Amino acid sequence: MPKDTWYITTPIYYVNDLPHIGHAYTTVIADFLARWHRLRGRNVHFLTGTDEHGAKVARAAEERGKTPQEWCDEIVPRWMQVWERLEISNDDFIRTTEARHERPVATFMTHLYERDEIYRAPYEGLYCVRCEEYKSASDLVDGNCPVHGSPVESLKEDNWFFRLSSYTQPLIDHYEANPGFVRPERARNELMGKLRLGLDDLAISRASITWGIPIPWDSDQVIYVWIEALQNYITAVGYDTDADRFDRVWPADVHLIGKEIVWHHAVVWPAMLMAAGIPLPETVFAHGWLLAGGEKISKSGRGITQISPHELVDTFGVDGYRFHFLRATPFGDDGNFSIEDMESRYNAELANDLGNLASRTIAMIERYFDGTVPEPQVIEAPEHALRSTVAEAAEAADGLVSDFKVTEALAQIWEIVRHANRYLVEREPWKLARDETNRPTVAGVLHTVAVALTVTAALLSPAMPVAMAELWSRLGLAGAPTLDRPDVTGRRVRSGDALFPRLET
Ligand code: MSP
Repeated sequence: MPKDTWYITTPIYYVNDLPHIGHAYTTVIADFLARWHRLRGRNVHFLTGTDEHGAKVARAAEERGKTPQEWCDEIVPRWMQVWERLEISNDDFIRTTEARHERPVATFMTHLYERDEIYRAPYEGLYCVRCEEYKSASDLVDGNCPVHGSPVESLKEDNWFFRLSSYTQPLIDHYEANPGFVRPERARNELMGKLRLGLDDLAISRASITWGIPIPWDSDQVIYVWIEALQNYITAVGYDTDADRFDRVWPADVHLIGKEIVWHHAVVWPAMLMAAGIPLPETVFAHGWLLAGGEKISKSGRGITQISPHELVDTFGVDGYRFHFLRATPFGDDGNFSIEDMESRYNAELANDLGNLASRTIAMIERYFDGTVPEPQVIEAPEHALRSTVAEAAEAADGLVSDFKVTEALAQIWEIVRHANRYLVEREPWKLARDETNRPTVAGVLHTVAVALTVTAALLSPAMPVAMAELWSRLGLAGAPTLDRPDVTGRRVRSGDALFPRLET
């Protein structure tokens, strides 16, 4: 079967602790992209999950007096709860402790071993448990891990190695032939620079760690957690278990990740796939970090560590939450998070711009046309202008989302909202309505704004699925929002509580 599915993945997250807004950032954006492509009528597969092996998770369990498996089984449902609360529409959730992952991983590794891609050699290195990664002495900052600022440990053991070095040139060739393989451009250039220096072979097993998947031909060692975790992207979609499904879904259209793990995804992973003779993902997109007070938000140590997505949803609602992270930081760059920004954007853009536009329009349709969207009797230049903005913004937003320019796409959609508000202020239908002879003009105005709101609700539904489904239904439309532009004439509108209640700061 040929590929017929648009496949998007998030990283699978370490479960040494609960999710914070940094993890949720990636997952919300992936969800937005998945929903957008579904709205465009594509068959989408959206995968997320948890990375449960390795020293980091084993230590978290030990600190709590539990076995790693007990700890994972306890904490994974709490990750799933956060994703449910954020209306994440993943089609699957993979856990690396599941047999459906472990078995195909063993096949994949054996396959590489049989192809002579793996050999045994002694290894000595500096290991950061929090990165689950060896560091070279030149990586360190003041002797500490450059990502976490915490001490590294010295490890010495016999390991299995993957012949990563032999993929230096094939990777350079792939980057050159596929300029969109690693995005954004900055990440691509950085990796290309490193590739040009040449790659070293990579230790892919650990003898000192027991919490992992055993090397199939050497039960004294487990597979290095990164090497098995990356394989989740194929084990979850039928690699080695369902060839037909695998062909329909793989290769992934995009692996969405944070910038600190671009090396693993855009160098190690494609080399592994090349070694196994499996096609490479279309794009690896590395976004920036959410910072708080200038530091990376992380589970422990630096930055604001304890902002729980739940607390923010309590205040801003799920739609306000999602909107903020999609809209506030140009996607790809680092962005500073602050509650004050979140509040002011919520009040300005959601409560005022969009919320008021919707409630005013619905209220006027109720007052002047008994709650039924009127026929567009008079359509003049201002109506045409708003209609063009709607059409242009919809088209531009689609192009931008296809190009991962999420923030810019939302800005485009906001052009509709802004224009519609300006238009109402200019047209003043509430004044026109005082004179019965203006009724055809008022009908044209309210019809035009209702159309603009319908398209806006559809375009914003991937960002704000709950509020936009509600707006869609208040506009008298049935089912879930679609881009099919259903005719609004004659629909019965319904007013209700504010879609985005104003926050008192
Ligand atoms: N388990 C690995 C990934 C394996 S994928 C085969 C891992 N897990 S993690 O729990 O540390 O999650 C890392 C990911 O969470 C980042 O790549 C990023 O997507 C997200 N983020 C974590 N902190 C973040 C910020 N402060 N800002 C934005 N995203 C962040 O690495």
